[in-house]
Amino acid sequence: MEVVTRIPELKARLAKARQAERRIGFVPTMGYLHEGHLSLMRRAKAENDLVVASIFVNPIQFGPQEDFASYPRDLARDSRMAEQAGVDILFVPAVEEMYSRGHENLLTSVEVSRVSQGLCGASRPGHFRGVATVVTKFFHIVQPDTAYFGQKDAQQVVVIRRMVEDLNLDVRVIAAPIVREADGLAMSSRNVYLNPAERQAALVLSRSLAQAESLLRGGERNGAAIARAVRGIILQEPLASIDYIAVVNPDDLAELQTIETSVLVALAVRIGKTRLIDNLLWEE
Ligand code: PAJ
Repeated sequence: MEVVTRIPELKARLAKARQAERRIGFVPTMGYLHEGHLSLMRRAKAENDLVVASIFVNPIQFGPQEDFASYPRDLARDSRMAEQAGVDILFVPAVEEMYSRGHENLLTSVEVSRVSQGLCGASRPGHFRGVATVVTKFFHIVQPDTAYFGQKDAQQVVVIRRMVEDLNLDVRVIAAPIVREADGLAMSSRNVYLNPAERQAALVLSRSLAQAESLLRGGERNGAAIARAVRGIILQEPLASIDYIAVVNPDDLAELQTIETSVLVALAVRIGKTRLIDNLLWEE
């Protein structure tokens, strides 16, 4: 595996691969890799000739009170794991490499309106603008045939898909299933913030979604009833405080009163100081 830190070097390397008609798969990450990230890398390896993964803690997608500075980082460990998962080129740019005039001086950004506003967008203003902007930059630098994202960040997938469609970006977007710990907790780099009591309390997210799934399987089609059941379970956990519970259309994130063939049940819950997200994508 090659580790590349400079954009011109990466472009030169990829131009050769493209000339040789090698299919390029791309997996953007912020590092501190876990099985969720690795599942995307392995899938990219299986479906492409060359896999590029990036590790970049993107400052413009963090709010001023958020954890940009303390976000976990371990490049040595990440490099070993990425190589094992089949990554050919690991792109690890410095902030100055991606934002040459400094990220505070970025004048151009990509805003995917409406689908960026609700759910996580409501408590993280500007977050999805930061994501859409950095992903656009990566798409231009890497020019992948296919890019891989996790369904764990369901709203991010909707934002990226819509951006690709609206701006005619020439990349195929794949959303891969959520990878969970044995007890159900969705894997996340932020899980390291949880102390043992919080780690246990965090199970309330997946447990509440399991209840939503069982209601849906049993024929419940009322969106508010699903949301109420999920809320009821989370409220029983004293360490949890709800940011949102959304029962929405998976394509445009519009609230669903009545569920027809598919639904996204998405939630964000604070466990102590740590904000966790999880979701259920249900299709009849
Ligand atoms: P990050 O949180 O590092 O996640 C990188 C990719 O891994 C995302 O597509 C995310 O959805 C996926 N992922 C995370 N946890 C997962 C899990 N448990 N199962 C499956 N996939 C999982 O998402 C970002 O970084 C950033 O916003 C980024 C797209 C890199 C832009 O900065």
